[in-house]
Amino acid sequence: MDVSQQLVEELRSAHKVVALTGSGISAESGIPTFREAQTGLWARYDPQQLATPEAFLRDPKLVWEWYEWRRKLVGEAEPNPGHRALADLEEHVPGFTLVTQNVDGLHGLAGSRDAIELHGNILRTICSAERIEVEPSQTEVPPICPGCGAPLRPDVVWFGEMLPAGAMEMASGAVRDCDVFLSIGTSSLVYPAATLPYEANAAGAIVVEINPEETPLTPQAGYTLRGRAGEILPTLVEAAFG
Ligand code: OAD
Repeated sequence: MDVSQQLVEELRSAHKVVALTGSGISAESGIPTFREAQTGLWARYDPQQLATPEAFLRDPKLVWEWYEWRRKLVGEAEPNPGHRALADLEEHVPGFTLVTQNVDGLHGLAGSRDAIELHGNILRTICSAERIEVEPSQTEVPPICPGCGAPLRPDVVWFGEMLPAGAMEMASGAVRDCDVFLSIGTSSLVYPAATLPYEANAAGAIVVEINPEETPLTPQAGYTLRGRAGEILPTLVEAAFG
């Protein structure tokens, strides 16, 4: 795959780079993307029906067990060359900011520091009432908060819920004066995360989309690299920084 030399030069000379990732960057680590049909036991459930406060209120056991299944998947997953290339990029670009919609923690495992996790992290558990982190110890399903007795839940953003305080402000702040914006492995359908590349465009940044498929962002992207993040990112970072 020949990455346009001009893009390589833009990346090499960029002072500030923002990367926004979606579940596509973890696909090559074996984690199904969000909108891919669920596999096996959970095939009959639509994630958009389970990742909601209403579903948890209605059937906390089902929602907790669904996240346990996803947590197991994540626990067995390793960062792939795409995650590692972004950790590498962070070493070369002092003004690099990583924003992720993923909750799998693989960027941190790959060595990325301070990733802004817009949708939380599935490996963290919180009290559903106090929203403080709690180590699930009991065997009850779902476990309950030792402090107040409320059921525990994963520390992820459900549909209709607010993002972690300050997360979007930090992400938008980084986008405001970035030179290059990389949109990687996201369908660019879910807001407010999906506003970020448009904000980057408005700020005059070069917007690059890395995705095997078209998305609503494609027409706005300055560069469209059609393919898998695990192949394109290492090639791009290698070409720019050797
Ligand atoms: P989606 O499943 O909507 O989109 C995944 C994107 O990754 C698609 O555009 C695929 O074409 C692309 N893709 C697949 N394999 C890839 C690969 N190897 N390399 C690069 N791209 C690849 O997942 P997201 O866009 O992440 O929010 O979904 C965004 C949010 O929607 C999720 O964070 C979740 C969901 O609602 C919450 O849970 C709050």
